Amino acid sequence: MSRQIMPPAANIMDVVGNTPLVHLPRLYPASKAEYYGKLEALNPGGSIKDRTALSLILDAIRKGDLKSGQTVVESSSGNMAIGLAQTCLYFGLHLIVVVDPMINKHTLKILRTYGAEISHIREPANEGGYLEARLARVKELLEKIPDSFWPDQYGNRKNPQAHLQTMHEIVSSLDGNLDYLFAATSTCGTLMGCAEYIKYHGYSTKIIAVDAVGSVIFNKQAGERKIPGHGASRPSAFLNLDLIHDVIHVNDLDCVNGCKKLLESEALLCGGSSGAVVSAVDKYQHEIKEGATCALILCDRGERYLDTIYNQSWVSENISKEIEISV
Ligand SMILES: Cc1ncc(COP(=O)(O)O)c(C=O)c1O
Repeated sequence: MSRQIMPPAANIMDVVGNTPLVHLPRLYPASKAEYYGKLEALNPGGSIKDRTALSLILDAIRKGDLKSGQTVVESSSGNMAIGLAQTCLYFGLHLIVVVDPMINKHTLKILRTYGAEISHIREPANEGGYLEARLARVKELLEKIPDSFWPDQYGNRKNPQAHLQTMHEIVSSLDGNLDYLFAATSTCGTLMGCAEYIKYHGYSTKIIAVDAVGSVIFNKQAGERKIPGHGASRPSAFLNLDLIHDVIHVNDLDCVNGCKKLLESEALLCGGSSGAVVSAVDKYQHEIKEGATCALILCDRGERYLDTIYNQSWVSENISKEIEISV
């Protein structure tokens, strides 16, 4: 109950970022290291992508590329779409989001409630999976709609730049004492923004990327993935391997188990990539020294996954028959 009382915020955009960093003493009881979770679920739109969306849209408005009444078109597997829906509604912009079948139903309802228009991709592209198919649709829409704008979360440097602040918040909360940062990857905006901050400020923090089995970001074989958020079916434009210490791949079952562990040990209901990060830290335990301080970026809320990750029948049908979910 010791957290500082804040003065009123100017508007909803003003409460994006500055999320809490929470000590997680129960998550790895056998470990002699300390763990902290960055609760990105507490952004107003429920995920880390609120930061990215605000960064891209504000930059375009400031440069004069985007004005109230124009249409924004973007591809997203879910959270970026919600971040953009919130930001576009606030700034009076029309939003069309291009989504694929991995998006969950709850996210679709949220998007419609914010007033976003949804364009569905039903089939993956021959090469590059759903992402290439979504990007082809974005291109078509941009050509068709006059004065439309593509924020381009995949190539716009304002994406990683948004996360210089994310890393600044984590490092400042810990007075600069951070040995490991674990971050899930898709565009690699989060990972690289954090890594660039660490390099620029000369900290010794090791950056550990967490990717999905079946994702091609780190040159692994493409494969089916059922949990949206982390992983990608094409390489990242931002990735700089020189700034990354290690990469851990986790499968969908690891995500489910990690989510369950986070919920049962710390009462934190988080999304699939948070479960991925929790399991990745488990796999990395042999490297983590006694007394080390580790931060885990917990990217989004669990409510969006109640019908999937937290639903025993869905897990049995889609991922594994063996695991038991006790919620
Ligand atoms: C839940 C979740 N985790 C992780 C990520 C990866 O973030 P980034 O695109 O910054 O690599 C995303 C991206 O959409 C996400 O939605």
